[in-house]
Formats: sequence, structure tokens, C-alpha cells
Amino acid sequence: MTSRIAGIGIYVPETVVTNHDLAKIVDTNDQWITERTGIRERRISTGEGTRHLAAKAAARALENAGVKPEELDLIILGTSTPDRNFPGDACYVQAMLGAKNAAAFDISAACSGFIFAMNIVEGFFKAGIYKTALIIGSETISKVVDWSDRSTCVLFGDGAGAAVLKASDTGVMDMLMGSDGTKGDALQCESRTMGNFLIGKKPVSGFMTMDGQEVFRFAVKKVPESVDILLKRNGLSGKDIRYYVLHQANERIIEAVARRLKEPIEKFPMTIGKYGNTSTASIPLLLDDMLKRDMLAPGDKIIISGFGAGMTWGAVLMEW
Ligand code: ACO
Repeated sequence: MTSRIAGIGIYVPETVVTNHDLAKIVDTNDQWITERTGIRERRISTGEGTRHLAAKAAARALENAGVKPEELDLIILGTSTPDRNFPGDACYVQAMLGAKNAAAFDISAACSGFIFAMNIVEGFFKAGIYKTALIIGSETISKVVDWSDRSTCVLFGDGAGAAVLKASDTGVMDMLMGSDGTKGDALQCESRTMGNFLIGKKPVSGFMTMDGQEVFRFAVKKVPESVDILLKRNGLSGKDIRYYVLHQANERIIEAVARRLKEPIEKFPMTIGKYGNTSTASIPLLLDDMLKRDMLAPGDKIIISGFGAGMTWGAVLMEW
């Protein structure tokens, strides 16, 4: 048994923030952001939490899959911006959907979260433990962005995407995931600081910090490596792959990966321009966009690849 995607659903907040809007609050401009990242606008939540975005995306995924909430065995929500330290947002989503038969938990693997969730589900399906799962990538990154730091605030956006996975004979063909904790500080967001009890300091919520060039180098090395491993292990070449569905962090990263793989950029669909980097949500947002544009047909082979803080990375080879 393997897993197939039975339905995708997305939800993004209504508020659109353009590069021109950001230029009013930090020293930046549309040309710099567009040329360096490909981002033109992003959605920002003005009240809805990670769990609210997640539940709306999940309800649409269930509808598109024709699956009832009570049929779900498992709900995994990947996020780096949960609404609460505990309980996990997945439990709130379970309640909002009425998925009373599902075990629900969050995972933290940053922008690789959606791929890590796919890997976990695959393990349960292969072991014959579960048959129907819901995975969600949901982020309200805007709450951990330092809106006075132009080097990070222009990059991110809020949103959620979900997929219903069903145990099947066809679908996922192979997958991998990995981590390198030695590079953890390249992209991080501190939790509330220690010492509140002992020295009476007020807790301070952390904001993200990033070594952009380190992340860039890491992504451009790890994504092609992961793709090569999956192709070799399955006796395939780039010619067999219809699309590379990459985490949407930066258009320049995607272009550099395409060059390294010697593949045409047309095989790398993008939504970075309209959503920015939505971390765990970016892959399902992109898959949804591709489905709406009729880009995927049964039998198409695609490779999905994510990378992010940790550092973490993961990739999935699947037949649609
Ligand atoms: N507007 C205008 N100028 C800016 C901005 C901005 N928003 N941000 C930085 N600059 C300035 C810097 O201050 C610097 O000025 P200086 O030369 O006077 O010191 C200059 O632009 C160049 O800065 P760099 O950081 O060297 O710019 P770089 O070319 O590396 O581009 C970027 C920065 C876009 C972040 C790039 O490093 C990158 O794409 N990194 C990948 C990281 C990424 O995509 N992270 C997303 C999250 S990670 C993930 O999802 C896994």
C-alpha cells in the first residue's frame, strides 16, 4: 500500500499586501523585492489564527476528496507558527471539522513540514495501521515576522493548504527526508525567553532571524541532491518527470535548482509571486494552483521537494 492524494484544499486570508505597501513601512522597493525573490504580493491575516486557516483549507480538501470528516484516521498539521504552545492546532482542526475518529497532532519541520507529514502518513499506510489521513500546512508567519527588518519581512505570507491522503496501490512511489541540526541557527525564531520566574523579566516573544545566503546555498544544494536520489533509486531520468513541485521560498532558488538539474524552468510551476513564502503551506497552495489550471493528469510523474529551517529537507516522487 502507498498513498495517493484524493483531494486538495486551500485557504488564504483576504488581505493582500503588495510590495508597494511594504515600501511604506520599511526601506525597500518593489523592484528590489521582485528582482531578488519574484514576490509581488502576499496575504496577511488580520485576525484569523493558524488553526482557522487550517480548518478552512481542510474542509475544502475533504469536499474535493469526497471524504467525510468521520472517515479520517489521522490529522497531521505542519506549522512553525502554532496558535498555542499546546494543545496542537491539529486538535482544534479536528474539533472544527468534527473528525471524531482521527488522532490529531502537529509537527514542526518548518518549510519541510508538508513533506514530513506525507512521509509519516506513508509509514502508517505501509504498516496497514491507517487508510485515510488529512495533512495540512498552515502558517500565520506574519506574527513572528519583525516588520522593521526589511531583510525578512518582504519574504513571507500567511496561508494554508491541505490534502486528503488515501491508502492506494498507486500514488507515492518513493520519498525521503533529512535534517542537519548543525545549521539550525541559519533560520530560527526564538520561543519565549527563559528566566521569567527567576529574575522577574517579562517574557519576550521571539521574531525570526535568517542568514539568507546560507539558506540559499543550502536549498540550491539539497533540492537537486534529493531529486537525483529519487530518480536514481527508481531508474528514472528527468525526462520522466512532468513537473518539479518545489517549496516556494524564492524564485531565484527555483531557477538555480532548474539550472543544476539541467531542466527547463517551465517544469517548475510557481505561486511565489502572489503568495510569497508561506512555509508549510506553499506546496499544497502550488498543487491547488496546478489543479485549477488543469496541469496534472493521471499517470503524470511529479517530484515534490521541500526545504527549510532545521535545516530540514524532504522529497516525494509520485504518480498523479
Ligand atoms: N529591500 C531593499 N534592500 C534590501 C532588502 C530589502 N527588502 N533586504 C536587504 N536589502 C539590502 C541589504 O541591506 C544589503 O544592502 P548593503 O549591500 O547596503 O548591505 C543588500 O540589499 C544585499 O543584501 P543581501 O542579504 O546580500 O541580499 P541577497 O542578494 O542575499 O538577497 C535574499 C537576500 C533575497 C533573502 C537572499 O539571500 C535569498 O533569497 N535567500 C534565500 C533565503 C530565503 O528564501 N528564505 C526564505 C525562507 S527560508 C525557507 O523557506 C526555507
